[in-house]
Amino acid sequence: MTRSEKNVRAVVLAAGLGKRMKSELPKVLHPVLGKTILGRVLSALDGLNLEHIHIVVGHKADDVQAYLESQPPKTPWSTHLQKPQLGTGHALSMVAPALATFKGTVLVACGDTPLLTSETVDGLLEAHQGQKSIVSLLTTVVPDAKSYGRIVRDGQGRIEKIVEDKDANEKEKQIKEINPAIYCFQWPEIKPGLTGLKNDNKQGEYYLTDLIGWAVSEKLPMASSVAYDWKEVSGINSRLELQEAGRLLRDRVITKLALESGVTIVDPESTWISPEVTIGADSTVLPGCFLEGDIEIGGNCIIGPHTTMTGVVRVGDSAAIIQSLVTDSEIGNDCRVGPFAHIRFNSFVGDETRIGNFVELKKTTVGTKTNVSHLSYVGDAEIGHGANIGAGTITANYDHISKTKNRTVVKDGASTGSNSVLVAPVTIGKEAVVAAGTIVTKDVPDESLAVGRARQENKADWVSYKKRQAAQKV
Ligand code: UD1
Ligand code: CA
Repeated sequence: MTRSEKNVRAVVLAAGLGKRMKSELPKVLHPVLGKTILGRVLSALDGLNLEHIHIVVGHKADDVQAYLESQPPKTPWSTHLQKPQLGTGHALSMVAPALATFKGTVLVACGDTPLLTSETVDGLLEAHQGQKSIVSLLTTVVPDAKSYGRIVRDGQGRIEKIVEDKDANEKEKQIKEINPAIYCFQWPEIKPGLTGLKNDNKQGEYYLTDLIGWAVSEKLPMASSVAYDWKEVSGINSRLELQEAGRLLRDRVITKLALESGVTIVDPESTWISPEVTIGADSTVLPGCFLEGDIEIGGNCIIGPHTTMTGVVRVGDSAAIIQSLVTDSEIGNDCRVGPFAHIRFNSFVGDETRIGNFVELKKTTVGTKTNVSHLSYVGDAEIGHGANIGAGTITANYDHISKTKNRTVVKDGASTGSNSVLVAPVTIGKEAVVAAGTIVTKDVPDESLAVGRARQENKADWVSYKKRQAAQKV
């Protein structure tokens, strides 16, 4: 998109209660594939290079505000409080003071349409500006008109008005062309219509949709375009619709990965990948994977079965991540991870390294060609290149009394024996060896052996002695 719209502002309506969600969480903050419904709408708008996004908040406004501050849109933005919430028309009028000196296009979208794309909104903007309209809207034809506003057309097929489901008569209820609630308005030309809205309807609300009927009666130039995919503009009103949106988004992402990125997705039904994820060509995603977040995976990888990745994750080329959980970490090229590994909290795994079954890495850097192959907990550590962390090696990194975490350093080529405990802070020197079962409490110099365990004693013939004793008792 090349548009740089210095005279286009968006308004996102996100103040409503969302009663049908039956939730303590505001509707617009429910997640769809790892990002909130509102966040997904804002991402679509971010793709348009707009001058500003005005977000109308009301129900649990503090929660929505806090969310926006933690994950702000890229476009300059502000919130506008609507209290009480008297309808979508009333919501838009909350932004009017901020538009006092503005002249241009106001693009209105609802905060509850997570599948909206930049392309669709851009198409409407183009129609609006190209046709020099005052009011433009998107319409779409759906198989089930549910609670949507119906588009009423006259004998010549021209739009006459929008009738809300609750206010529609039997004939109007049959209409399958609905209002997805995405509009362009010329500002300040539509201001009189907005101020003149009435609430004499079944819901006692000021409907934004009445602006369409007003524009028709004022004979203002109007453009409309029909959305090619009704699913894209579906609003979320219930948990069922939230599920459905998640599935639709998943299908869209998986189709794109398969057709455009050259990724094999073995079982789309059991695979959940968010739109933010990129995967390189000739990678395969096996069944049961859940990849949600800012994730980049290279080419030629095998992911899964049953691998979960969340947060910010980077995986190089030709890596295999089998039945594992990876959060906010980076894994290099040609690595083999899992099954059942847990890599988290800013961990970094170098190229050609092996992280095996039941290994947890926390805030740990592992060099290249190193093995942490079985049953280890490695936290707050720095492991060098070509090192070997033996089965059951544990970093004792936490001091329960001072509540502090301490660092462990294992230098290049060092090796820890099975069942050793590295009591941090401690350093294992270059090419040093820690004997199996050792509890390391002080630094081990380079190329040295650390042994710290009770010396073994063998008692010859102990078993036969015990057996003879037992026989005599009978
Ligand atoms: C609205 C439209 C309907 C359309 C449907 C598409 C109106 C009157 N109706 O109905 O024609 O088919 O969207 O999904 O506009 N909101 C506020 N303040 C309010 C009321 C709502 O900010 O006072 C926000 C909500 O948070 C939501 C959006 O506006 O994001 C739409 O509100 P909602 O109650 O879901 O409207 P619908 O009944 O779905
Ligand atoms: Ca809605």
